[in-house]
Amino acid sequence: MTKKTSNAMWGGRFADGPDAIMTAINASIDFDKRLYAQDIQGSRAHAAMLAATGIISDNDASAIREGLLTVLSEIESGDFPFSAALEDIHMNVESRLKDLIGEPAGRLHTARSRNDQVATDFKLWVRDQFDAVDAALQALMSALVAQAEAGADWVMPGFTHLQTAQPVTWGHHMLAYVEMFGRDLSRVRDARARMNTSPLGAAALAGTSFPIDRHMTASALGFDAPAANSLDAVADRDFALEFLSCASITAMHLSRFAEELVIWSSAQFRFVALSDRFSTGSSIMPQKKNPDAAELIRAKIGRILGAMVGLFTVMKGLPLTYSKDMQEDKEQVFDAADNLMLALAAMSGMVADMNANVSSLEAAASSGFSTATDLADWLVRELDLPFRDAHYVTGTLVGMAEKQGVDLPELTLADMQSVHGEINEGVYGVLTVQNSVASRQSYGGTAPDQVRLQVKRWQEILK
Ligand code: ARG
Repeated sequence: MTKKTSNAMWGGRFADGPDAIMTAINASIDFDKRLYAQDIQGSRAHAAMLAATGIISDNDASAIREGLLTVLSEIESGDFPFSAALEDIHMNVESRLKDLIGEPAGRLHTARSRNDQVATDFKLWVRDQFDAVDAALQALMSALVAQAEAGADWVMPGFTHLQTAQPVTWGHHMLAYVEMFGRDLSRVRDARARMNTSPLGAAALAGTSFPIDRHMTASALGFDAPAANSLDAVADRDFALEFLSCASITAMHLSRFAEELVIWSSAQFRFVALSDRFSTGSSIMPQKKNPDAAELIRAKIGRILGAMVGLFTVMKGLPLTYSKDMQEDKEQVFDAADNLMLALAAMSGMVADMNANVSSLEAAASSGFSTATDLADWLVRELDLPFRDAHYVTGTLVGMAEKQGVDLPELTLADMQSVHGEINEGVYGVLTVQNSVASRQSYGGTAPDQVRLQVKRWQEILK
């Protein structure tokens, strides 16, 4: 066979080589070299299957296997000559294999196409990311559960509209995030289970006339089954879209929590002290300790959700099956996965290090008339007032306390009775924040007992 000036892998019908700009827009090697391990793993499985089914000889298969291992170690040692002229990781590997083992290399691509090859490589890579995110979410959840256990009865303000609403416990607040990341974890597992079918052997789009064994390659690569429709197998990027969707929801959760840490660590709140390990100083203001890690985590949703919107937009309107547009699937998934993993690791570290300022939390919980609802409930329970009337009486008492510049427990009984004559000493029992949280015993409520039950439940799940 004579080599052409055009691409040695597909240049048979071409007289001329590509324009430099064509090479620049077409080549993906700069980023898809990241799939080298998956590409070689897929090729090894494919070659073994070709030999097992008698499509190639055992000798060729073992030459291919040895050659691929050499390519792998060349890439891993950093002295692999990646070439943009060879477009992508698939052709870079195959071309180097040819240099190393000669003719048998040309048999590797029997009954395969880059279309099923890239779908397989990318799926294997994304599957690893699902597993990495799974582990990182569990680590973060464990750090949060430890915080919840330590502070099951520390009182803090609960907010709506970022206005003090009712006292809650620190543990309860930590566990709210455990629930959120727990849903993220179950989403990751759902998506991972759904995506675990093998595209390999779908070939270009229609399947192949060679007597291949797709079950064999699927199981060698840890897939549950071969993808059942060859057209779908090469056209599908749902696994990447689902990864980005999962990643975006997690990044959104991280962003909400990061925002709370930024607020809580401010001098105005002082709810928590973030460790030096996850803070930075200012180059001009010596007193400053900035929550940079929290701020960056808060921001990561931008690029991660951007990647999701980006890939949805690439995929929308693409006719079946493969189109080169789909080469634009990788960089944004790589970037999103890297940044999500970084954000999860940083958040885990911050949570593990974070020190709650128990006295500021309690002081804040006691201000802002946070037990007003307890007062109204007491009026309903003890004086049999309709809740609407109790709400009105309480509102009047809050107005009175505000005018006097005191909190509800500091109003005298005479003051209280001037608003409603039947109020008695017993009311003071519900005006403390400790009693308020302890009374919220409904399932999933903020009472320390309930928090401890949920801590146990999560410890069981996470162990
Ligand atoms: N580099 C390509 C990609 O990432 C590989 C598949 C190329 N297939 C093709 N028919 N040109 O999508």
